Amino acid sequence: MRLYLGDEAATQALARRLKAALPAELEGWTILLEGELGAGKSTFARALIHALGHAGPVPSPTYTLVEPYTLGSGSIYHIDLYRVSSEDELEFLGWGELDDGLRLVEWPDRAPGLADVADLRIRLAYEGDGRAAEFFGLSQKGRELLARVDFSPL
Ligand SMILES: Nc1ncnc2c1ncn2[C@@H]1O[C@H](COP(=O)(O)OP(=O)(O)OP(=O)(O)O)[C@@H](O)[C@H]1O
Ligand SMILES: [Mg+2]
Repeated sequence: MRLYLGDEAATQALARRLKAALPAELEGWTILLEGELGAGKSTFARALIHALGHAGPVPSPTYTLVEPYTLGSGSIYHIDLYRVSSEDELEFLGWGELDDGLRLVEWPDRAPGLADVADLRIRLAYEGDGRAAEFFGLSQKGRELLARVDFSPL
């Protein structure tokens, strides 16, 4: 699944479409957000966290590694692996204990093994003046989710 995102508002709108396809219960979901510097990962993550019901700011987890949110629908763990250099370091951030909510991971390529436990990979890339988003279902429930996302042009 691939969609062109002409401006920041389109990136945010796509995040809201993903929210619309997610189940009410966020427990046990892992979504990977790939893309080079400035591709729009944090824009997408912020819009998704807001769409899921968080009203306040969404600070970058670059230094804290994990920013947790407790919402009516469950927890969200916004994770940034930019400063992580190996899979072993995932234990330091308590990865294993974060499965009671949605793990939303920026720079997942720092820990390639995550692809085996994740549900969805979203890849953002520069395209013209905007960006392109590509979605890959990594698990059965991830593929089922993709079938529910509105991918009509934005
Ligand atoms: N579809 C789009 N078209 C054009 N600009 C966009 C689009 N989506 C986001 N942007 C802009 O790109 C810039 C970088 O976005 P953002 O900070 O979300 O990227 P990032 O992938 O998190 O980068 P980094 O890896 O450096 O943290 C922002 O100014 C944002 O407004
Ligand atoms: Mg960012």
